[in-house]
Amino acid sequence: MPQRRTAVFPVNGQGTLVYTVRKKSQFTIYITPDKQKVPKSLDFDSEFSEFEEEQSFDTENYISLTVGENFARFKLKMHKDDEERVLKEEYGKNIGIEPKELVSYWFSYDRDALTLKYGKGHVMTQTTLLEFPFLEGKSKGEEEHIRKKYNIFFNAEEKKYVVAESEKMVEDVTGGLVKIEQTLQFYPNPLVTNFSPIVKDSSKVTLFDLDRDQFMFSSSLPPACKELYDNIKGLQLEFPEDPITKLSDAIRYSINTPGMTLYEKLKEKEEQFAYLRVTLGPDRRTAPGIPYVLEIWPSGKGSPIHNHGGACAIIKVLFGRITCNIYNKITQPPEQTEMQPLTRFDLNEEQMTWIGPNWYQTHRLHNNTDDFCATIQCYRYDFNDAIHWPNFDYVGFVEDKEKYELEEFYPDSDFTFVNLRRTVLDEFQKFLEG
Ligand SMILES: [Fe+2]
Repeated sequence: MPQRRTAVFPVNGQGTLVYTVRKKSQFTIYITPDKQKVPKSLDFDSEFSEFEEEQSFDTENYISLTVGENFARFKLKMHKDDEERVLKEEYGKNIGIEPKELVSYWFSYDRDALTLKYGKGHVMTQTTLLEFPFLEGKSKGEEEHIRKKYNIFFNAEEKKYVVAESEKMVEDVTGGLVKIEQTLQFYPNPLVTNFSPIVKDSSKVTLFDLDRDQFMFSSSLPPACKELYDNIKGLQLEFPEDPITKLSDAIRYSINTPGMTLYEKLKEKEEQFAYLRVTLGPDRRTAPGIPYVLEIWPSGKGSPIHNHGGACAIIKVLFGRITCNIYNKITQPPEQTEMQPLTRFDLNEEQMTWIGPNWYQTHRLHNNTDDFCATIQCYRYDFNDAIHWPNFDYVGFVEDKEKYELEEFYPDSDFTFVNLRRTVLDEFQKFLEG
């Protein structure tokens, strides 16, 4: 029998809830100001009440989200004896439940703007599937009237309770972080608009930058990203004390010349991992694998689509240019076709991008230029991360099953930096000496 569980928004009356489940039939999430019995630990999975599948939710007021086969719907009920009223519903192939897959369904509840949003996967503009702004197109007078009328749902004085079914069906799927994530997770804020993926140093921000919202300012990064940013923002690939023998020239020579170290190492690699991971320093267990990695991307090569185990990251281009393709959260099992990117952007030399637990987690980097590219990738678990997932999950095509599966990649090391540098500089020196 299904189980119904309750939780409470961590911030009074607003936030985003992410509900990670595999649902074979339609489900409803209720948000209500009516007091519910909430588990003391705030752990959604620790207390529950069983209910009949058809039994409706017995409370006086609620706003609800129902997701079914090929549809999603927001409804509202104001008083015990009132009928439910449909606020907005939409039908479509991709909007509803995905009965074969473990998916994150999200519901953003904006208390101050009176806006409801629903989507699937990572919480962002591109994944939003249904939106209901109560105030859109209303005059000042109407706005005041609506705010008053729906005040019980949208005020800062009272808590808002969330009631949802709790089952999480994950049998016969392979691994991945998504399988062990909590069924219900909360973010304190509703989704208003995306953060920019491009980082700009806060000391260089202009009035135009503030107004255009084109950058993520370094001081606004999640704390774990900020730490990484401060550590690597000044990094260079070349050492200025030796302007003649450039490390970039030595790396290029080694990649392109048969018999040289990088050429031979790349020959051993699978096509989907045809780039080099050069690690720097020890693995202190603060990240999935060693936290600082120099990655070398030959021309035309890239990574598979992967996530970062929920960790924070900063990526800086040290040489050349890399294209970042951003994807939605990978379902489990992953889609049966090649996933399409939600957005993509190029990072030029010196530019930096960031990854947070809930932002830009799933990507694929690719070098579309005709020279190699070098990036420094830095990782750190978010300070609230209670899992410390040690892997990156990636979408791999399994030949004998003829389908895509979510596989786990433990971040490894092809070389350590000092060894790599000595080797390629020696090779290049010999070449120059003839
Ligand atoms: Fe990555």
